[in-house]
Amino acid sequence: MDYSALSARIGSLCAGEEDTVALMATLVCEVHHSDDRFDWTGFYRVVSEGVLKIGPYQGGHGCLVIPFDRGVCGACARSGEAQIVEDVERFAGHIACSSSTRSELVLPVRNAQGDLIGVFDIDSDRAAAFTAEDATALQDILDRVFASTAAPCYPRGHE
Ligand code: SME
Repeated sequence: MDYSALSARIGSLCAGEEDTVALMATLVCEVHHSDDRFDWTGFYRVVSEGVLKIGPYQGGHGCLVIPFDRGVCGACARSGEAQIVEDVERFAGHIACSSSTRSELVLPVRNAQGDLIGVFDIDSDRAAAFTAEDATALQDILDRVFASTAAPCYPRGHE
C-alpha cells in the first residue's frame, strides 16, 4: 500500500475544505478504494456524551448508533487509542454489522483542539488484515485532514 501517494491525493482533494462531513466523505472514498483488504470503511461521530453515530461510509450496512461502552469503536473512543483487532470473534463485545468481517482497525479522530470528534473504522473479511504500519500511516492522514477543522465536539467521553 503506497500511503504517501494516498496521503498526497487526499491532501490535494481536501485542501482548503473545513466542512467535516465533506472531509469525512472524501477520505472514506479514497481510503476504501485504495486497498482490497478494506471491505467496510467509515466514520462514527461523537454526537453527545458517550454516544457515537454513523457518518460517511462505504461498504455494506453500518450500525447507526454505538455507545462508548460497546464494540471496538467504543473501546477506541473511551481510550483514545488505536484498536487493531486480528480476530473479531475474540474481541469481547465486538459489534458484528456484517457476518463476513474477520478483522478490524479503529482509529481516534481529533479536531484542531485535540478533542475527540469521532472514530475511523475499517473492517476486513480477511483475518489479521491490519498492521501497525497501517494504523500509523492512516492516523497521520486523519491528523493532517482534521487538524485544520474546528469541528465541534461534545465533552471528551474518555477523560
Ligand atoms: N464492528 C464495530 C461496529 C461498526 S461495524 O464494523 C461497521 C464495533 O465493534 O464497534
